[in-house]
Amino acid sequence: MVEKRYEELIAIINEADYNYHTLDNPTITDQEYDKYMRELYDIEAAHPELARSDSPTQRAGGQILDDFKKVTHKIPMLSLSNVFNESEIVNFDSRIKKEGIDPKYVCELKIDGLSVSLQYEKGKLVKAATRGDGIVGEDITNNVKTIKTVPLTLKKPIDIEVRGEIYMSKEVFNQINENRKKEGLDLLQNPRNAAAGSIRQLDSKVAASRRLECWIYHLPNPEDYGITTHMEALKFMEDLGLRVNSTNNKLVNNISELLQFVEYYTENRDSLPYEIDGIVIKLNSLPDQKKLGYTAKYPRWATAYKFPAKQVLTKLVDIIFTVGRTGQITPNAVLEPVIVQGSTIRRATLHNEDYVKNKDLKIGDIVSIRKAADVIPEVVESIKDRRTGEEKDFEMIKFCPICHSPLMKKEGQVDYYCFNQNCDRRHIEGLIHFASRKAMNIDGLGDQIIEDLYNLKFLHRFVDFYKLKEHRKDLVELEGFGEKSIDNLMTAIENSKKQSLEKLIFALGIPNVGEKTAKILAMKYETLDNLINADFEELINIPDIGEIIAKSIKDYFNLSFNMEQVNGLKELGVNMTYTGPKVEVNENFNGKTFVITGTLEKYTRDEIEERIQLLGGKASSSVSKNTSAVIVGSNPGSKYEKAQKLGIPIWSEDDFQKLVEE
Ligand code: IVH
Repeated sequence: MVEKRYEELIAIINEADYNYHTLDNPTITDQEYDKYMRELYDIEAAHPELARSDSPTQRAGGQILDDFKKVTHKIPMLSLSNVFNESEIVNFDSRIKKEGIDPKYVCELKIDGLSVSLQYEKGKLVKAATRGDGIVGEDITNNVKTIKTVPLTLKKPIDIEVRGEIYMSKEVFNQINENRKKEGLDLLQNPRNAAAGSIRQLDSKVAASRRLECWIYHLPNPEDYGITTHMEALKFMEDLGLRVNSTNNKLVNNISELLQFVEYYTENRDSLPYEIDGIVIKLNSLPDQKKLGYTAKYPRWATAYKFPAKQVLTKLVDIIFTVGRTGQITPNAVLEPVIVQGSTIRRATLHNEDYVKNKDLKIGDIVSIRKAADVIPEVVESIKDRRTGEEKDFEMIKFCPICHSPLMKKEGQVDYYCFNQNCDRRHIEGLIHFASRKAMNIDGLGDQIIEDLYNLKFLHRFVDFYKLKEHRKDLVELEGFGEKSIDNLMTAIENSKKQSLEKLIFALGIPNVGEKTAKILAMKYETLDNLINADFEELINIPDIGEIIAKSIKDYFNLSFNMEQVNGLKELGVNMTYTGPKVEVNENFNGKTFVITGTLEKYTRDEIEERIQLLGGKASSSVSKNTSAVIVGSNPGSKYEKAQKLGIPIWSEDDFQKLVEE
């Protein structure tokens, strides 16, 4: 009897949840719903042996984990390639047509959340996992069960894996933040971070309180169900009771309908109840998808159009000045904190005096700020008609904000410099640069620690890094340093002695010698002594090294202070020779210039550029008539078109590989 009622209640509640959350069409009142839930709880309390793992009571959360278990995906969870403008969308379409395909596409909203894989067995949700690195994710089943738009039971008892996006609606996000503000807690940054943070809660009650939602958009193995188009796959999943965004998904018949869809949502995305960061374009025919296949990272049959960076307004509260290791003075905007595309922006570089003056920025102005993904925030302009008259004019400082020595410009340059070799800030910045990842790569020495050690006088010159072990006792006393972290640090410092010469040259911080130049010099001279002894004429004969760099190198090693540092490092056992791969001249590359465009499969940009260098060639970023060949990956940009116009040879990655092996 009670068994029957128990099953009945689960069916009623599941149906009510589905109607309310998935179809957005409530069929019973909240009071009725609560009554059924209470009855269900009561039965489970009295008869724990009856409780089912897919019971709606599980949605409240309660289990607390120590850690998330790892889950290996049966089929890797891939990400999508990106396109950023109309012409890149057109290129994507042309490439598909070139394969002899007559494409129809499904356009979907690119939900800004985190992807999830859901596994159902006999129609019951048994596992939910994050994407992780695409191969191995984390088991988040407990937390996903709290998401009301994820059915715990499907309408058919089948085995199936589906994928979709977990997200937080704008409304819930704002509500949570309002509450957090009242309670004096840190605010959640944006709905995506909020969703990701909620799903990584070990206590599923907390996850439940975050009211996450989910859209399903991908069926990894449609052939198991005899499905031949993506539209059918979506319909199939929807019929199982899964929540598919069918009011917004659209099948388009050609590129002009596709562009219309993109334009519509570019204009109207703010009126959606959740955040989207682009449009996903998927080839509808599954046999055609199969024909195109995958690169190592992405399907070739789909791409994501990413919306352009958003601009937001905020107040320019102040302009402050920082001193770099070369003494360069940079004005920085201090902004009233604003969230732009996922991160809070408080500062933005204003580069130099001319930059501020050209933009006519005044302190107190309302300014518009832009930040594209992974890109440094930028002050776009000041909004002149928001001025009240209270704004203060910008004035360049005349003295170093740290050591107060007078600032001067270098000939022909716009930047001001602090020329005081003993300016504390310059020393600290130089030490930070020396230890940084691309230089000597001393792990465990953050910027603040270096500054603290400098102020404590343990660290003043480069050689002092290698003498820090003498201060071990004092370090233990410092906050944040345990025996173990000091051991690790000491090992990292010792290991850095073995870095190849290019790292050392870069670490020294010779003005105008960046990472690339350091590499060229290290490969050419092989030891630091050879570089020190090279004369000016010889240096300027090296491709890519002009008079400014050559003079800078000569000036640097002519200063006795610098030579003392170099000799000190040598005595302490720091490696001074090039230990990287040697140039093996290949006639297909020697003395030639190459441009790379698009996404490559076998190499990263840095790797292929290094490869070209090692074969005696040079990589350049722009196409001209002097370019020997353009190497083209997927989604190439305007460089590809320009090369075609100029009649420059175009190589695929395979062509490149063949010529390397010749
Ligand atoms: S399809 C092989 N469809 O965007 C198919 N992804 O930048 C892979 N995303 O990792 C995914 N909305 O987390 C697809 N309608 C949608 C999407 C979507 C959001 C996310 C997903 C993916 C990322 C790629």
